[in-house]
Amino acid sequence: MDEEQLYIKHRGVYLSKLLISPESLQYFDNFTFRPDDIIIATYPKSGTHWMQHMVSLIFSEGDMTSVDTLYNWERAPWLENVTAVALNLEERPSPRVFTTHFPYTLMPQSFFEAKPKVIYVMRNPKDVFTSYFHFHTIASFLVKPGSSSEFLHKFLDGKVVNGSWFDHVNSWLKADDKEHILYICYEDMITDLKASVAKAAEFLEKHLDDEVMEKIAEKCLFNNMKQNKMSKHPDTPTEVLDQTKTKFYRKGVVGDWKNQLTAEEAERFDAVYADKMKDVDHNFQWD
Ligand code: A3P
Repeated sequence: MDEEQLYIKHRGVYLSKLLISPESLQYFDNFTFRPDDIIIATYPKSGTHWMQHMVSLIFSEGDMTSVDTLYNWERAPWLENVTAVALNLEERPSPRVFTTHFPYTLMPQSFFEAKPKVIYVMRNPKDVFTSYFHFHTIASFLVKPGSSSEFLHKFLDGKVVNGSWFDHVNSWLKADDKEHILYICYEDMITDLKASVAKAAEFLEKHLDDEVMEKIAEKCLFNNMKQNKMSKHPDTPTEVLDQTKTKFYRKGVVGDWKNQLTAEEAERFDAVYADKMKDVDHNFQWD
């Protein structure tokens, strides 16, 4: 199936019809935020589930009950997705934790008024591309990626679900009120997970003992999260997400793009990156 069959276009950005409907977009646009909400914002494949897990454990002070009994999309719902509408989020006690794959420019009016805290997770776009390519081979709600080089064209042009990685990252890095936003890289989390837990906990104003942070970091390790059935979409049928081919928790490493891109493709990627990111004032770990 092609883009027309599987996607809707929302303000120039492709979205999956299975995940997002006109009603869920309306719900998102009219959502009333609170200043003490926490939003995990990411471009897909940047470490969304990882941060959802970490934030849940920070609030539970390392207690595993919520991550062992609630799906990640219940604990930290994607606000734009159809699943959010039935969760009665208006009634949830604070602090509410939400997720979005939307760029800053598509956030609703109430977000800009309430100014909730945002944790924006970024990852080397070449690794995002690689992870997204593999995800497209197993997700029936996404257009089949074709060859890696065909998918690269679409990715660099932003003709994929959730649009251009470059526009997404640019939008969040150029946000107003940056004091409400914690920018964190997947690569930082790989390098020092405990330091990343400490950084997120401090931002969320949650005082945790050193040993609790140690425990949370341990629970957030790739091999431990792989065992957590609630965040690997256990009830999603194989026809929708075929994890017999590639697991959702695929590799969890930095630099897998080297197994995906040819030298020529990497060069093209770098050229597009240099152009699209020229106005961005941020030190990325991958630079
Ligand atoms: P790979 O496909 O490169 O393995 P998202 O949650 O935004 O969809 O991102 C999914 C990517 O994050 C996948 O990347 C997945 O394996 C990786 N990931 C999830 N949990 C992780 C963890 N605890 N440590 C490292 N990587 C993790």
